[in-house]
Amino acid sequence: MSRKRILSGMRPSGKLHIGHLFGALNNWVKLQDEYDCFYMVADWHALTTDYAETGSIALNSREMVIDWLTVGIDPKKSVIFRQSDVVEHAELFLLLSMITPLGWLFRCPTYKEQLQEVTSKDLQTFGFLGYPVLQAADIMLYQATVVPVGEDQLPHLELTREICRRFNNLYGEIFPEPQGLLTPAARVPGIDARKMSKSYNNAIALDEEPAEIKKKVQQMFTDPLKLRAKDPGHPDGCVVYAFHVLYNPGASVRKEECAQGAIGCVACKAQVVEFVEAGIAPLREKRRVVSRQTGMIDDILNDGKIRARAVAEQTMQTVRGAIKLSHE
Ligand code: TRP
Repeated sequence: MSRKRILSGMRPSGKLHIGHLFGALNNWVKLQDEYDCFYMVADWHALTTDYAETGSIALNSREMVIDWLTVGIDPKKSVIFRQSDVVEHAELFLLLSMITPLGWLFRCPTYKEQLQEVTSKDLQTFGFLGYPVLQAADIMLYQATVVPVGEDQLPHLELTREICRRFNNLYGEIFPEPQGLLTPAARVPGIDARKMSKSYNNAIALDEEPAEIKKKVQQMFTDPLKLRAKDPGHPDGCVVYAFHVLYNPGASVRKEECAQGAIGCVACKAQVVEFVEAGIAPLREKRRVVSRQTGMIDDILNDGKIRARAVAEQTMQTVRGAIKLSHE
């Protein structure tokens, strides 16, 4: 019996942090046992915003693969590949661009938001507008039926489904409609309580050093109403408590202790330092080992390219046939 196929991807935007771990990667690791997984380094997607400074994309791509291997993405179970290694993404993207109405793209909430938010780059480009079309091509190329994504990506997935239906209406039933699989994501706040993100400078890296962990936990925002250790606290909005939930199996006990004023923030933070360190230490060690094996990383990416292209090429043969540009 063949298993359902998954495709998911991430843009290589630098070292990953524990927001990625709890928000996506832990889930990716689990899915490997149930699905045929294709995990893609979306380096062409990185170009849609970073076209003017491409210098770090290659390195970031490798670093991201190292992070994936560190957390347990297994090249024996899953296909790990770089988008730009599979040129069929570009071909399908081009064909899909012919049938995608501009209105769908201009209406896309992520497009509108990013145009407003990102002021340091000129995003008035065709490529940036077409971001979701490229993403649709990624998914459709592997005829993936399941796409694990975070909530922020749901509009893109909906667009993929629309593009898919339109293609099938025009050229025949070729593509299955993919379903989004919402990651049961733990919310990971950054040390300043905003969403953890590299660009906010509030993240804890997957392999953060012990001294940095300590420093960052000490900077974490706590309940502003809990001034003295014995004041009752409000764990629900507290970053330190959120980290207890992620790392401390006894988090519910802590919640009560905090609410009753039975523990102060200083002691509570000191424990978080220990829990986070215990969680990160094995990753730090593993990452060190993996990152030294440069030949192995090359081999994994090469193998991924071959396996991904085999599927992609098959899809494209069907697609080319359906579009009928040639006569065979
Ligand atoms: N857009 C996704 C992100 O920013 C990355 C991505 C590219 C992706 N292609 C994909 C995710 C295909 C899922 C499926 O995180």
